[in-house]
Amino acid sequence: MTSVVSFADKPTLEGRLVVLRPVQIADAARLAGLHEETLRLTGTHQPPPRLEELEEWYRSRADYDDRLDLSIIEKATGEWAGEVVLNDLNRDNLSCGFRILLVGPTYFGRGLGTGATRLVLAHAFESVGLHRIELEVYAFNPRARHVYEKLGFVHEGTKRHALLWNGDWVDAHLMAILAPDWYEGGGPGGHPRAEPHDRV
Ligand SMILES: CC(C)(COP(=O)(O)OP(=O)(O)OC[C@H]1O[C@@H](n2cnc3c(N)ncnc32)[C@H](O)[C@@H]1OP(=O)(O)O)[C@@H](O)C(=O)NCCC(=O)NCCS
Repeated sequence: MTSVVSFADKPTLEGRLVVLRPVQIADAARLAGLHEETLRLTGTHQPPPRLEELEEWYRSRADYDDRLDLSIIEKATGEWAGEVVLNDLNRDNLSCGFRILLVGPTYFGRGLGTGATRLVLAHAFESVGLHRIELEVYAFNPRARHVYEKLGFVHEGTKRHALLWNGDWVDAHLMAILAPDWYEGGGPGGHPRAEPHDRV
């Protein structure tokens, strides 16, 4: 019998700069206060939902085994810095989607996004047993694209004019990383994508 991949397990993952832990109701207040630059870079047109809706959203994430919603906690301050999500689990094809956001510019560029992405990729490939993880990144977000390429994501195509932002059309790039990309040059725990100090 083949094993069925699942996100039923909601782990806590620890790296050098960040701890990833399952989202909690109390995190919703921080999610409600995302900086406008984070909203722009994620192409979020709608105003944030009401706090009660966000609390219910975070409360109910534990009920789903086809997605994994983890809060990014900055180890140095203990602050909720953002969230990283594996979603759209496809059990037949061993694939899922990926998205990440940090609260705002004061958290950008300090290695938190790289650390969080590395931890969740290691979990997805090495513990869950996925084969493919994909994402979309807008053309006006070179910082995010750089992080993804650094960790092994490959550009697969472009959705032209996928976003209309303040009157300008913006392309969305589809990127994906496969298990062989992740393990390239090594094996579990010993590959170049995973710096030893960022491993559990
Ligand atoms: C995208 C995001 C998760 C990245 O996390 P981060 O903590 O800011 O990124 P890091 O500090 O780990 O790494 C940033 C890297 O990008 C590089 N970088 C910064 N600005 C850049 C630019 N304009 N072009 C190319 N690379 C850039 C940095 O040099 C660094 O690379 P290095 O480690 O090789 O030196 C974070 O910025 C974020 O949440 N942004 C807002 C929401 C968002 O964009 N989400 C992703 C949607 S697809």
